[in-house]
Amino acid sequence: MEIQVVTHPLAAARLTIMRDKRSDNATFRSALADLGAMLIYEASEDLRVEQFSMDTPLTATTGTRLEKPPIIVPVIRAGLGMVDPALSMIPDAQVGFVGLARDEETHKPVPYLEALPDDLAGQPVLLVDPMLATGGSLLHAIRLLSDRGADDITCVCMLSARPGVEAVRDSGLPIRKLVTAAIDPELNEDAYIVPGLGDAGDRLYGPRNIHF
Ligand code: PRP
Ligand code: URA
Repeated sequence: MEIQVVTHPLAAARLTIMRDKRSDNATFRSALADLGAMLIYEASEDLRVEQFSMDTPLTATTGTRLEKPPIIVPVIRAGLGMVDPALSMIPDAQVGFVGLARDEETHKPVPYLEALPDDLAGQPVLLVDPMLATGGSLLHAIRLLSDRGADDITCVCMLSARPGVEAVRDSGLPIRKLVTAAIDPELNEDAYIVPGLGDAGDRLYGPRNIHF
């Protein structure tokens, strides 16, 4: 698995706004959307393209388009904030959904939604979730994709923790690349990333209270 840490100054500045505890929901959402677009741009660098004949107003020429537009798969809730930025970069992408919530005691993901095509073989997948902490949620989502034949999975996580990166890297699952803006060193006793940015879902949308 390739690990790409995007350290562009504009990306670092947006991540800093997200980390800042003074940023309210609107400020956080706006910074997350900007950083999401930057990371999707980086993550899509190696999508395959094809050439085709076309006309400018002046003459015939050769155009370039994606050979197979990817499917964007957000991990709900926090991943939803990355869908619009991803679609602004890749307007012809499909979108699938995985809903997971971490159990506050066990820190394991509790699944509550799967809305994905049955067959993902041969289709590039951009799996998007702002946070990679223990790695449990991302690994669960990757298994769902892999069970549907996905063989070209790129994970886009804005902030990652070293233990989660190692868990994903060592999982043996078919992951092409992880694109992230930073890798923080550790998790606290509640499995939050430190220094981190807090609970991404809450900072986007307010506190959740999901009953299963
Ligand atoms: C957050 C985040 C990831 C997960 C990461 O979601 O968006 O999905 O935690 O933690 P992990 O790597 O330890 O699994 P959360 O479960 O808080 O749900 P939410 O987005 O609905 O707030
Ligand atoms: N999920 C979050 O939203 N933040 C963390 O620090 C860890 C998991």
